[in-house]
Amino acid sequence: MSMLTELKERFRKALTGLVDEPAELLDLIRGSQDPKFGDYQANLAMPLGKRLRRPPREVAAEIIKRLEIDDLCAPPEIAGPGFINLRINDQWLARRLSAAVAEPRLDVAPVASRRTFVIDYSAPNVAKPMHVGHIRSTVIGDALCRVLRFLGHRAISDNHIGDWGTQFGMILYGYKHFLDVEAYRRNPVQELARLYRHVRRLMDEEDNNPNVTTTDSVQAAVLAETARLHAGDPENRRLWEQFLPHCEDEIQRVYSRLGVTFDHTLGESFYEERLAPVVDDLLRRGIARESDGAICIFLEGHKTPMIVRKRDGAFLYGTTDLATIQYRLETWRPDAILYVVDHRQSLHFQQLFAAARLLGYKNIELQHVSFGTVLGDDGRPFKTRSGDTVGLEGLLDEAVRRALEIVSANDDAKPNGPELSTEQRRQIAETVGIAAIKYADLSQNRTSDYIFSYDKMLAMTGNTATYMQYAYARVRSIFAKGGVDIEQLRASGSPIVLNSAAERALAIEILRFSEALDMTVADYRPNQLTSYLFDLANRFSTFFEQCPVLRADTDELRQSRLLLCDLTARTIQKGLELLGIRVVEKM
Ligand code: ARG
Repeated sequence: MSMLTELKERFRKALTGLVDEPAELLDLIRGSQDPKFGDYQANLAMPLGKRLRRPPREVAAEIIKRLEIDDLCAPPEIAGPGFINLRINDQWLARRLSAAVAEPRLDVAPVASRRTFVIDYSAPNVAKPMHVGHIRSTVIGDALCRVLRFLGHRAISDNHIGDWGTQFGMILYGYKHFLDVEAYRRNPVQELARLYRHVRRLMDEEDNNPNVTTTDSVQAAVLAETARLHAGDPENRRLWEQFLPHCEDEIQRVYSRLGVTFDHTLGESFYEERLAPVVDDLLRRGIARESDGAICIFLEGHKTPMIVRKRDGAFLYGTTDLATIQYRLETWRPDAILYVVDHRQSLHFQQLFAAARLLGYKNIELQHVSFGTVLGDDGRPFKTRSGDTVGLEGLLDEAVRRALEIVSANDDAKPNGPELSTEQRRQIAETVGIAAIKYADLSQNRTSDYIFSYDKMLAMTGNTATYMQYAYARVRSIFAKGGVDIEQLRASGSPIVLNSAAERALAIEILRFSEALDMTVADYRPNQLTSYLFDLANRFSTFFEQCPVLRADTDELRQSRLLLCDLTARTIQKGLELLGIRVVEKM
């Protein structure tokens, strides 16, 4: 149980008999902004006073009288209009930390009630190269999966790739008209990407050319190829089957580099045969009806209906999503499905979830975990100079290239000369570069847009992966320098001593890891975890400035401080790992 949960439990008991619904009040127990008000503050006496029509300070006093908290806290104090300040006992802190030393999970207990989540993330439309827009869904979804699993939930990741849409019509058309046979033989992935871009350009040109008729346009031809594929045309089907593995190779390359994996990759095509039955079922149950030749679901509160079959018989994105929900429920019986998708699709998900409710899927949490746009320096969606969207691989390459410059410059500047081989530098740069991109994304409140900046994301100070990795490497170098045997240290049973404010502040922060993870999953925001790690690294920095470790006054103090260093490093490592980010031993 996290410290906060523990405190809430104690308050819950103290409130029995005073109020019936304490949940909202308990949410008013929080970490203090300033250590002079203790470690935690309970701000519930004011609203409770209002409810009971009694002076808040008096209510605070009564709560304190009822609280059984001696083992955990110093006697609580009332401040101002009725704030209750709580200071955790040093012995209690030391005991919890000692337990964490011996525990691979640190101080984080698995959840009492395990839920099953399906997490739908990344989901690129394959056959076109991945671009900057795909980074967010991929890294946020991956981080949520990791955190949920660590907390003890069952999290099933499913990459709902777009493998059945118009982009295949585009490469089918491209293949039939512009194929460079030799290039395709040598490198199919690259040639398909070229064809995609070529056809894209032709279609865009048409948009600006008033002389093209709709019937002989490339756009019409592409739609016709897509329709033939969907209708089961053997030639298009055969080509599609031939293209698909190449498209999968292409995305797989990016995933390997990002260290992202999926339990399942059930793309849109997987649901093809379920679409007609879904529509029939909707009609039979009177949930959908015909309107102007199309089959629509009219939803309360929505101006436009959700179309599930067009007049020409084609099914839509939403039809596939309904079939997907049905499949997921049958297959995994999840308690929740999370869709980590761009905020521009929020209307789609509102309609989808409303339709799912009509279908009777009520006891399931359906959640659009939406996110904002990645912007360039100019505050507009991130594009290359020529106006193309930025390819994801190029982005990773550039971050790694810059990381290599930084790593090399740092290493060259070491007082006793460089320590790293060329190969070591290269490996560190790959880890640091990718980490920088991921962390920059995860550390944003996901609903905001953010400006993509290599300089900021690779800064050695500030809320960056580089800073966190550096804090970790610093601990490792202390251990190396002191010739410390970590296993022996952990097994030594040496007590943790919290004599100074800096040690104590670090101790509290280490123990708040569990709270940070709870907050991360409460509304699916990985930036709760990055903020926590940033606070932790800062407190470590202060501790390190103020408290000599290897040259501590006594042996006992040295052991205790080494243990605090070790716990910090392990917490940073675990925290980063849960964000899908690796640490480096040296940098
Ligand atoms: N392929 C879609 C796109 O690129 C995202 C799919 C998200 N998942 C879903 N179940 N709709 O826009």
